[in-house]
Amino acid sequence: MAKPIKITETVLRDAHQSLIATRMSTEQMLPIIDKMDKVGYHSVECWGGATFDASLRFLKEDPWERLRKLRDGFKNTKLQMLFRGQNILGYNHYSDDVVEYFVQKSIANGIDIIRIFDCFNDLRNLETAVKAANKENGHAQIALSYTLGDAYTLDYWKETAKKIEDMGANSICIKDMAGLLLPYKATELVEALKEGTSLPIQLHTHYTSGVASMTYLKAVEAGVDVIDTAMSPFAMGTSQPATEVMVETFKGTEYDTGLDQNLLAEIADYFRPMQEDALKTGLLNPKVMGVNIKTLLYQVPGGMLSNLVSQLKDFKAEDKYYDVLEEIPNVRKDFGEPPLVTPSSQIVGTQAVLNVINGERYKIATKESKKILSGEFGQTIKPFNKEVQKKCIGDVEPITCRPADLIEPQLAKFEKEIAQYKQQDEDVLSYALFPAVATEFFKYREAQQTKVDANVADNENKAYPV
Ligand code: CO
Repeated sequence: MAKPIKITETVLRDAHQSLIATRMSTEQMLPIIDKMDKVGYHSVECWGGATFDASLRFLKEDPWERLRKLRDGFKNTKLQMLFRGQNILGYNHYSDDVVEYFVQKSIANGIDIIRIFDCFNDLRNLETAVKAANKENGHAQIALSYTLGDAYTLDYWKETAKKIEDMGANSICIKDMAGLLLPYKATELVEALKEGTSLPIQLHTHYTSGVASMTYLKAVEAGVDVIDTAMSPFAMGTSQPATEVMVETFKGTEYDTGLDQNLLAEIADYFRPMQEDALKTGLLNPKVMGVNIKTLLYQVPGGMLSNLVSQLKDFKAEDKYYDVLEEIPNVRKDFGEPPLVTPSSQIVGTQAVLNVINGERYKIATKESKKILSGEFGQTIKPFNKEVQKKCIGDVEPITCRPADLIEPQLAKFEKEIAQYKQQDEDVLSYALFPAVATEFFKYREAQQTKVDANVADNENKAYPV
């Protein structure tokens, strides 16, 4: 029986986030979306994750405007975004009214599928976003942050899948951000999830450790429904397996995607010069294209490794790299063995650096480490190390409820704070997530508009001298 595999194309989000620091601009995307719309992808992931921050901060673009332009162009294809549960696209927990409004506006501006995850897989942190997506008739996909450790048994994944189905999600994604899922483990995992739920299962992985396309092959054979791939110029390395390769692999089999390889080749031709330019300017470091076997040894996402190198440089302690790599699993254990994904990856990584640099563990604990140990990010799979907790937060009583239950509604306050810059409803959400960066962007936007107005006035004066 034919069981065509569906493809989510990531070139407009994860692929450029993973390879070129999220620097692909809307202008670079627009000329090709007409062709991409004809492919017949299950969905195109094009928004959320780090794209929102990067648009405002580095590209001086309004992310909402980008979404509307993509929606205009993609007439037949579902648009997908990545959403960090109660963190939305930021690094803190937000009140429910902000989460609900963000979901509502994302869907109103064109998103069809919202992939929602939490760095601890604490399902309580996903509830509000899932409910909001259901209410707006969006597709709520819950992504399980995949990681290794003795607590993460097949039974754990299976039980979690059951709970996700009960929560009202429309599908489940295995989110393997570090490329840790090995081919034969993928078979077991997909089979376990399929036992736990009847929801469609999608697989998202990265090529970092070099096994990704084999993992897809085994997962597909085990019954996975959708895989995430990227057009070849932005595939492999720390990105996803190449779309064309996976399409060709399944051609003529019961899993045939039915996608047109000639059309894909034309799309790849469009992206290739962009990749070559990025190599020339150094935006794309050839190093990230290779196999990073350390990611398997240390179970650390590729992005985290490059962060460590730059943090150690700041301390002039590059020689401590391997000490830090060895300290990471210890910190992770002290913090209840969470998956390492934004923001837990940054928090654990930074704490490991401090522990090594200071020559004493938790002599200095970051604000974020204290937040984790106070329960402010939610519940981890294992308890925290009591001694470490005591050393970092003293006698403060940790919270055990859903963290957002303790956060008062924030939207009205944010509205007041940005009133003078507001040009569209969505501006308050940009501000809520990245107050300083958004404010700077709003000022830049105003300055640009004044410039344009002045030019128009200037030209009018020339044309119609008075
Ligand atoms: Co990813």
